[in-house]
Amino acid sequence: MSGSVLVIGGGGREHAIVRQLARSPQRPVIHAAPGNPGTAALARNVTLDPADPAAIVRYCQDQGIDLVIVGPEEPLIAGLADHLRHGGIPVFGPGALGARLEGDKEFAKEVLHAAGVPTPRYQAFSTTDSALSHLDTMDLPVVVKACGAAQGKGVAVCATREEAETFVRDCLDEQRFGASGLRILLEECVRGPELSVLIVTDGQDYCLLAPSRDHKRIGEGDTGPNTGGMGAFAPVTLPAELHAEIDARVVLPVLAELRRRDIPYRGVLYAGLMLTATGPQVLEFNCRFGDPETQVVLPLLRGDLLELCAATAAGELGAYLEHFPAGDGDPAEWAGAGLSEWRRHCVVVVGAADGYPGRCLSGRAIELPNDRGGAWIIQAGTRQAEGGLVSAGGRVLGAVGLADDLEGARRQAYDLLGGVHFEGLTYRRDIAARKD
Ligand code: GLY
Repeated sequence: MSGSVLVIGGGGREHAIVRQLARSPQRPVIHAAPGNPGTAALARNVTLDPADPAAIVRYCQDQGIDLVIVGPEEPLIAGLADHLRHGGIPVFGPGALGARLEGDKEFAKEVLHAAGVPTPRYQAFSTTDSALSHLDTMDLPVVVKACGAAQGKGVAVCATREEAETFVRDCLDEQRFGASGLRILLEECVRGPELSVLIVTDGQDYCLLAPSRDHKRIGEGDTGPNTGGMGAFAPVTLPAELHAEIDARVVLPVLAELRRRDIPYRGVLYAGLMLTATGPQVLEFNCRFGDPETQVVLPLLRGDLLELCAATAAGELGAYLEHFPAGDGDPAEWAGAGLSEWRRHCVVVVGAADGYPGRCLSGRAIELPNDRGGAWIIQAGTRQAEGGLVSAGGRVLGAVGLADDLEGARRQAYDLLGGVHFEGLTYRRDIAARKD
């Protein structure tokens, strides 16, 4: 792989990807579309419409782009990777068939069932009456999910029947999520710690990046509504038998089922797991890197992200992984353990605008501290205005800390966040406070 890579997207995940690419010994020329003020320091930010794949293919051909990494789910679900591959451009990211695992939750459940992978019981509905009748037969709390992609907002964990009915009506009657919410799942609520597992695969070979944990609720102690994620840490320490169980009961059967269905997959498949008392269950699949998980998983990579993505896009992941046998202290039962640094720890704390995950004001002046050796800022909802950097979204930035132990990484992240100032800055104080 030589040296021009285009990263699609402009959030925290994409800043984290660009930052990691910029550390590649191959010194690639990095383009980001649209990128954000954080990527601007490391990449050439370009304006390209993700909904116009022909324009993106043309740009890649004109600029001699060797690899495209697609960050967000929407363009993947819409088939951007297929267009690029048709144009002869290597892509890290699945085509529309594979991205349907995120774009259609009912389809994902079908795949899970066919593969025999544990997942909470569910039923799908398109009419309010039938959904509400079924709701009367379910134990509380209950999970209501819009089947289509809804930017992380289409899932509600409802403690009362009233809450569940409101969300059902929001989806089916009020069409709050448009077409994405016209079919819904009512799902049993299972309990346990969550785990994010990022499976990098070229369809044949695969490896698992360091397991991470997101903190999805807005409030400390995991209270309040779900968000896109308020912070994360990696690696999560798991018993060895759980490593093996996740591999055998989740990863292998799902990848085999994709092959059985002739669904090609070159990119990252993100499995959102719940570690229940009876074993891991898959809550959801995403067809891209998690955000904010990516911000803590990539700094632990021993290898070069550029090479990892290029090998995956070329269908040569197996050969690449041979360079990373599990070493001393690595959990050998974790496929691809040698690719991650297990003796270091990474924490990100998200700084959000007040009001998030509801409506929040943008345009507030942001003051940032300088990055340090073990701590840096990842920008997400920011914009460069005439007078300086301003907020432009709910999750504005992440403060990342990296250290030899989890507590040290937490301290690094929170210390750095102490130097961030904008009106309405809000964040959780308990990110990575508990390991279980
Ligand atoms: N952190 C949740 C997600 O990326 O969907």
